[in-house]
Amino acid sequence: MKSTKKYKHSRESRTSMTQLMLPSHSNFSGKIHGGYVLNLMDQIAFACASKHSGNYCVTASVNRVDFLRPVEVGELLTLKASINYTGRTSMVVGLRIETENVQSGETKHCNSSYFTMVAKDADGKPTPVPGLLLETEEDVRRYTRSIMQQAHYQRREDSFDPAKFDPKEYKSLLEGKNALLKI
Ligand SMILES: CC(C)(COP(=O)(O)OP(=O)(O)OC[C@H]1O[C@@H](n2cnc3c(N)ncnc32)[C@H](O)[C@@H]1OP(=O)(O)O)[C@@H](O)C(=O)NCCC(=O)NCCS
Repeated sequence: MKSTKKYKHSRESRTSMTQLMLPSHSNFSGKIHGGYVLNLMDQIAFACASKHSGNYCVTASVNRVDFLRPVEVGELLTLKASINYTGRTSMVVGLRIETENVQSGETKHCNSSYFTMVAKDADGKPTPVPGLLLETEEDVRRYTRSIMQQAHYQRREDSFDPAKFDPKEYKSLLEGKNALLKI
């Protein structure tokens, strides 16, 4: 049955997925392709956001993906996703990716990232999502961090608007960089 709740807790849509990393997912140096891991991240973000919203969602943006450590063939890759923030029609899904060596039991944190997903209605238009129920300090920390990250991103976008950009303001930033300024 379709959810009609006005607010939902992130635990209701928390999602996890574990996959064995096969040789067919590896690159020429024997490590797992970053693109393959990104594909899995997109899938789990989609599942989590669709569960929260009760609608199919699309990926609007991805905020930073750092591959902290290589993923090896034969390891178990576990992806965990939960909703950190809800706007009117958008949601920020926080992802954490870890690997486990099945023989030694050693685990590695490989990646954390934030996917912004937008819920769509049957006509393909953005549609409202339930708000997030914030019950713990950790819930509030994640929600407010997301607001701050969006504000930071917006400020960066504004200062690099081509119509407002003045290279003179950034001359000192280029000193010592591996670039030759010729303007
Ligand atoms: C993302 C998309 C849904 C936005 O649609 P739109 O008509 O511009 O809709 P709106 O301006 O009403 O924005 C809808 C929501 O998306 C958010 N949004 C739009 N672009 C965004 C971006 N680049 N990053 C983060 N959020 C974004 C808006 O802030 C808004 O959130 P809110 O309702 O919570 O305030 C639309 O551009 C789209 O469908 N893009 C393609 C998505 C896709 O196909 N992804 C897979 C690529 S292979």
